[in-house]
Amino acid sequence: MKKITLTTLLAHKEAGEKFTCLTAYDASFASVLDDAGVDVILVGDSLGMVIQGHETTVPVSMDDMIYHTACVASNTRHALLMVDMPFMSYNTVEQALENAARLMREGGAHMVKLEGGRVQLPVVQAMTDRGIPVCAHLGLQPQSVHKLGGYRVQGRDKPTADAMLIDAERLQEAGADMLLLECVPAELAKKITHTVQIPVIGIGAGPDTDAQVLVLQDILGITPGKPPRFSKDFMQQAESIPAAVKAYVDAVKSGHFPAKEHTFD
Ligand code: KIV
Repeated sequence: MKKITLTTLLAHKEAGEKFTCLTAYDASFASVLDDAGVDVILVGDSLGMVIQGHETTVPVSMDDMIYHTACVASNTRHALLMVDMPFMSYNTVEQALENAARLMREGGAHMVKLEGGRVQLPVVQAMTDRGIPVCAHLGLQPQSVHKLGGYRVQGRDKPTADAMLIDAERLQEAGADMLLLECVPAELAKKITHTVQIPVIGIGAGPDTDAQVLVLQDILGITPGKPPRFSKDFMQQAESIPAAVKAYVDAVKSGHFPAKEHTFD
């Protein structure tokens, strides 16, 4: 297997080939995902919930992200390693650059991800100017859960859908290398994916994005409580964890996941 780069992902988009992303937070699972051919490993700030047991991603610190990124980086040989910038770690351009540099230098991240639309344009532009690959996260932004009043599908009405499309285009113009859409109606996600040239990863965003991402614990069926509607437990029909991860990879690449029941209108 060759090393996955942004050029590889762009080539997948241009060829109409789906690619895959999964979260990981430690070295053992990083190895399983890497061996299964997952293209992008995301050290998500979802670790605040699935690893630390918090109710939201808000308490996650820069030191937490660096620690888990370094664990994952130690066993990532092929995948592109994308890492979330945690809550309030990118309030100003200076702070964002400093913290992105720490994730890359101390953690080994290849790319950072940050939540937000037009408000993040100066940060995305500054990162681009300095050679820091960046993925913008639109739709449901879990770091704003207290402001949003819950985890809800975003972009269901015309004004918010139009604003999201404009944000996606402006983020691309500012230099964003990738876009992640979370909990967005499938038709809107399709329109955004076809409008921008950069690869678009979806979670709860229907089947037409260029790639899919899920939280590892969700696909292994070990998330406490009710699993999110957009996820699927791949352990149900697998004999081992590596087989479940491989089944996820195959299902995304073949277009069998997500199905209608994982998608929002
Ligand atoms: O933190 C995370 O795991 C994420 C995914 C839900 C996309 O951002």
